[in-house]
Formats: sequence, structure tokens, C-alpha cells
Amino acid sequence: MIASVVVRAATARLQEQAIVIPLYRGTRRLPAQAPFTDRTVASAAAALLNGFAAKRGETRTASVPGAGGKLTHVIVAGLGDRTAATPEDIADAAGAAANALARTRAATVAIAVDPALDGATDAAAILHALLKGWLLAGYSYKVGARRKTAVRKLVVVSAQPARILTPTVRRARLIAGLVNVTRDWVNTPANDLPPAALADAARALCKEHGVGCRVMGPADIRKAAMGGVLAVSVGSRAEPRFVVMEYNLSRRDLPLVCLVGKGVTFDSGGISIKPWEKMNEMKGDMAGGAAVVAALAACAQLELPLRVVGLVPCVENMPGGAAFRPGDVLRMYSGKTVEVLSTDAEGRLILADAVAYGVDRYRPDVVVDIATLTGGAIIALGTRVAPIMGTDPGQVEAVRAAGAAAGEPAWPLPLDERYFDLIRGEISDYKNYGGRGASPITGGAMIGAFAGTTPWVHIDIAGPGWNDGGGASYYSRGGTGFGVDLLVRFLESTATG
Ligand code: BES
Ligand code: ZN
Ligand code: MN
Repeated sequence: MIASVVVRAATARLQEQAIVIPLYRGTRRLPAQAPFTDRTVASAAAALLNGFAAKRGETRTASVPGAGGKLTHVIVAGLGDRTAATPEDIADAAGAAANALARTRAATVAIAVDPALDGATDAAAILHALLKGWLLAGYSYKVGARRKTAVRKLVVVSAQPARILTPTVRRARLIAGLVNVTRDWVNTPANDLPPAALADAARALCKEHGVGCRVMGPADIRKAAMGGVLAVSVGSRAEPRFVVMEYNLSRRDLPLVCLVGKGVTFDSGGISIKPWEKMNEMKGDMAGGAAVVAALAACAQLELPLRVVGLVPCVENMPGGAAFRPGDVLRMYSGKTVEVLSTDAEGRLILADAVAYGVDRYRPDVVVDIATLTGGAIIALGTRVAPIMGTDPGQVEAVRAAGAAAGEPAWPLPLDERYFDLIRGEISDYKNYGGRGASPITGGAMIGAFAGTTPWVHIDIAGPGWNDGGGASYYSRGGTGFGVDLLVRFLESTATG
């Protein structure tokens, strides 16, 4: 991780080894406030603009002798059309610039943000997106290796007073850091991160950031009669855990949000076993759970004025001799029964228990669950956009808006009685499979059925939680941490509105 990020006035003399200038399409001239005190660097930058279309993610680099004869790298980064650029586009452009600069091994970088913020209605959102793209692009994962980013120091250069920009810089660093923690957990192989280890990691992160955390083990889970969590876990030698995190609960006057995340540390499919191809990626089936832990940590650091409970059921879904089977009928925490048609539809079983527990124990104003729930979500919307749905249109819209602002797009699917009908059981209250059609919706519906009358929203991150290559510029192959920024924005919007 970059050691320091500072804000500096545009007039100060630059000594960084590289200067990044993000520009919208149609920029003919370098902005007047471009931070050049050195003529060679300034004219090299001006020359870069010849024939530069500033398409999103387009970059150009020039390396010239700068102040004191040291080589200075100048890079222009295209943001695309000013009116059309979304936070996702802007982060993408910043990531592209970071990737281009990585080749130069520059250790100190100045980023001239004013051209990107010029005339913006929400300069903080743009600065956040620039920093997020930059900081996420520096992430890499390799087992047993220390992370290596050449950049030690990033200087945000602006004519705006530091006191205006500094909170945004701090917030972006916090969130990007937590996104990268989430990516680490998703990328960690399942043999190194069984449920107990995920719970330990959650507990440690909570301690570091001042979030209350208790972890239930097998005996507690049995005592609470969480039939869904227990059934999914029993085919594995690895014990289940149920992580309960609490932030600010004593503040009875504030709204209470319950976040629930899927923590399947490995999903083999169980007795309904998956084909081998890409089964390795199922080490990332706890991405939703990781995002929930990260969101609580951010919430505490930002001292948001609301109450938050985070619940993460952690299990490994394996086909052992004691495993649950298709045809089994489970008695859930809520007392309702579920017939198992596929042991591979395990996420909804553990989430149904967690949602019911959250509603029963905490009486929240809203429940939001986030999960790598269905392959059908990828069929429906691809790998960049998360399907969302819920029982409260206002809350679904709040989640969508939070995703758009965070550059983590989410889009609603319809959810009404027709879909709940599809998961009604014949010999039980529900069944865990609603047919081939609309699987993201019937999967979501089974979770929502356990929220009762509490407003509930479901986010399916099966697609964007994992980058198979070819995703945003700032995502390497593997875990993306998608959902952390979205959840933090959602919590912020709940706190203020
Ligand atoms: N964890 C998977 C969903 C998944 C698939 C996540 C691909 C990421 C990438 C989930 O537990 C699962 O197996 N879902 C099944 C449900 C089906 C049996 C109703 C699916 O989507 O195929
Ligand atoms: Zn799964
Ligand atoms: Mn599964």
C-alpha cells in the first residue's frame, strides 16, 4: 500500500518523479492551473495532447529530464466525455494511468486533479473515484509474497484548499484499503481460510477498527437452532462459525441497519457437486461476508451516525459422509421448514437463517444481504453489474444509487408474488430451488421470505465479486472487493437521509 497521500497547492514546485493529468475528451490545451514550474516538463505535457482523444482509459506517457536533471514521467489520462463519465469510468481511467506508470517504477507521483474536478457538481465523488482507481490498481496477490508497489507517495495537487480535499482523501484511502483487505480474503485459498480463520480475520479487523464482534461456534449455532447453517456445514471437517458485529448499538435514537454477508469459504456444491472447471473460484464464495466485515470497519472509522449490525455465517460446503442431502427437510432458525432440492443452493440456506436471526434479535429498520448467490446473475447481467432486488422500492433505489456513486453498479430485477410462489414447498414451507428460470430472483426470494415484514434488499455479486481478467483496469485477476464501497455509501445515505 502507498505509504502516504497528501494534498498540495497547485502553485507549489513539483518534485515528484511522475505527474498524472486526468483530462476529459475535447481538452485542447493544458489547464492554466497545471502544476508545472519546469518548462521542459510543461512543453512535453503540452506535446502529449497532440492527437490525444482522451477516450476513457487512454493514456500517453512522456519521460523528460525535469528539475535537477532527473527524469520526470508525464502522463495524460483520458476520462472520456465530461457529461457521460460515471464514477466507474473515472476510476477506470485512474487505474489505467496507474498501470501505465507502474512500468516506469516511479516512487513519487503527483496527480493534478483540478482538470477532472473543474465544474463538477460533485468534486468529492470524482476525487474519490480517481483515488480509488489508483489505489486499487496497485493491488496484487501472491501466496507467500509481500506486496510490492513502486509508488511510495501520492500527492494530490489542487488549487482547492487542502481542508476541503483532505477528508475525501482520507475516506478514499480508508475504503480502498478495506477493499484490498476484502480482495486478500477472497483470494486466500480455502485451505488457508476455513470458516474459523475467516471468523478470526473478521474479529481482528473489528478490533483494529473499533467494532464490537462476537463469534458463535458449532455449539452456539446448534443451540440457536440455525438449521440452515448447520446443514450446509456438516459435510465438511471444518467447523462453522457465525460472526456477529455491532456498531453503535447503544444509540437507540439512530436508524438500525442489519448487513448480512454470505461466508461460504469453499463451495464444492456438496452432494450436488459442481463440475471441476472453475471450481477453484469457489474459494471466493465468501466475498459478500468479507464485504460486510469491511463495511462495518469503515463505518466505525467514519463514525457514521447510525447503528449497524453485521452478520456473517461462515461454512464450507463439502460432500462428506455426514453431508446433508437432496430431499432432506431442514428446520430453520425461524421454525419454517425447507426442502433441499440441490445442496449447491446453499447460500440461501445460511442467509435465510442469518436474516431471520437479525430480524428476530435486533428488529432493524432495514436488512441488506450481499452474496455470491447465483450463476444466473452472471447470465442475466454479466460480470460488471450486480442484480439487486427487495421488498421495499425506496431501499432498493437507495442501494442502486449507492452503487452508481461508488462505481459499483447494481440494477434491480423484478420481485413479486409470482417468484415467491416458485419456492413454495410441497412437503415443507419452502424448497431451496425454484427452477431453471429466473434463478437469481427465486434465490433472492428464498432469503427475503425470512425477513418477514422488515424491509429487505438483496445484492447478488456472483459476477462482479470476481474478475476473470478483462474487468476494470484496477482489478487484477481474482477477488475485486466489489460491494464494500457500495455498502459504505448506502450506510452514509441512511445516516444522513
Ligand atoms: N456460489 C454459487 C454461485 C456462483 C456461481 C457464484 C458462479 C460465483 C460464480 C452458488 O452457491 C450456487 O451454486 N448457485 C447455484 C444455485 C442453483 C443450484 C439454484 C447456481 O447458480 O447454479
Ligand atoms: Zn455458493
Ligand atoms: Mn452453491
